[in-house]
Amino acid sequence: MAQGFVLWFTGLSGSGKTTIADLVAPALRKRSVKIEVLDGDVVRTNLSKGLGFSKEDRDTNILRVGFVANLMARNGLAACCACISPYKAIRDAVRKQVEGDGGRFIEIFMDTPIEECMKRDTKGLYKKALAGQIKQFTGVDDPYEAPENPEVILKTCEATPEESAEQLLAYLENEGLISKA
Ligand code: ADX
Repeated sequence: MAQGFVLWFTGLSGSGKTTIADLVAPALRKRSVKIEVLDGDVVRTNLSKGLGFSKEDRDTNILRVGFVANLMARNGLAACCACISPYKAIRDAVRKQVEGDGGRFIEIFMDTPIEECMKRDTKGLYKKALAGQIKQFTGVDDPYEAPENPEVILKTCEATPEESAEQLLAYLENEGLISKA
């Protein structure tokens, strides 16, 4: 059985998690990795439908995503998770679960300054949050705890999405999780 692994993207809304996940997943499929993407915005329309953005609801959301990712990883599959996952303790709990079942957990920190996320504001949510129309918005009036020792740091301000995806693929190659292209 292949070594299962979890690619855990964490970062602010607009930091590029979905963009990079959507580049990396097909690139891995081309290399015969069986991978599924669990994206925050999508998960919240089904698996986590009805959950809000309190700390408790966010933690519940992350534990659900982590649970599914672990089921995949322990069966030799790859899971690519793209959720803000602002709380370190819950990310670490998911890591412990995955590693405890023999999977590899790769935390990828999207190191994009909030000013850049606000400038991008692809969904127009920062504008609303800054105007007070959305409460508990991560980075505006809700916390984000950056990882202390992520396996990979992607600085999306200094690289194109393709370059960031390549950086991650190179890491996976070096770790022996995928074969060299
Ligand atoms: S998490 O905190 O539980 O990990 P998740 O990644 O699932 O968050 O969902 C974040 C997405 O929900 C954002 O990209 C944004 O589109 C939307 N969203 C709506 N309200 C908020 C909010 N208060 N804080 C953060 N994101 C929000």
